[in-house]
Amino acid sequence: MADDIGEIAAWMVQVPLWQRYRLTTEIITNQFQTAISERALLYVIEVEGQTVVSGFAWYLAQGAFGRSAYLKQIGVHPDSTGLGIGRQLLAHVEEACKQFSDQLFLLVSDFNKDAQKFYERQDYQHCGTIPAYVLPDVAELIYHKRLLD
Ligand SMILES: CC(C)(COP(=O)(O)OP(=O)(O)OC[C@H]1O[C@@H](n2cnc3c(N)ncnc32)[C@H](O)[C@@H]1OP(=O)(O)O)[C@@H](O)C(=O)NCCC(=O)NCCS
Repeated sequence: MADDIGEIAAWMVQVPLWQRYRLTTEIITNQFQTAISERALLYVIEVEGQTVVSGFAWYLAQGAFGRSAYLKQIGVHPDSTGLGIGRQLLAHVEEACKQFSDQLFLLVSDFNKDAQKFYERQDYQHCGTIPAYVLPDVAELIYHKRLLD
């Protein structure tokens, strides 16, 4: 993963979502380096024939309320969306999280309708809203999924 940070940062800054949050390659690089040094849970997908990493997921064992698993960030290369990579990333995270949490939580921006549909398609439910949490003009929607019956 450490070797992939530069190339992931290079395509992340092209994604309108992260442009709106004013992420730069420097900020992204620092975030991932900190995550790695703190032994955060990071997972990447490399598709055969592609020269760059196609997707990543960053999740925390007890990142939600100090109790439940939390998906901090997930992204698919802009040229590779709609191919099932996001679904594969999420499936991996859910499987891994089942070992230590019965639920998985995440935040999604109110304007990010595509991601909301993506999560709803994977059986996530909107269970709350935090107004102006990260950006003053954006609400963060809390989604969750029960991983164990
Ligand atoms: C959101 C994101 C991770 C989804 O990954 P993806 O690889 O494009 O999604 P997939 O191809 O795996 O789609 C999985 C399912 O969601 C559905 N889906 C994905 N995007 C959708 C959309 N915009 N509208 C409706 N359904 C959608 C697909 O139809 C598919 O359904 P299926 O399981 O029945 O086949 C990706 O588009 C991305 O990185 N977006 C930019 C960053 C971002 O928004 N990250 C999330 C921040 S909270």
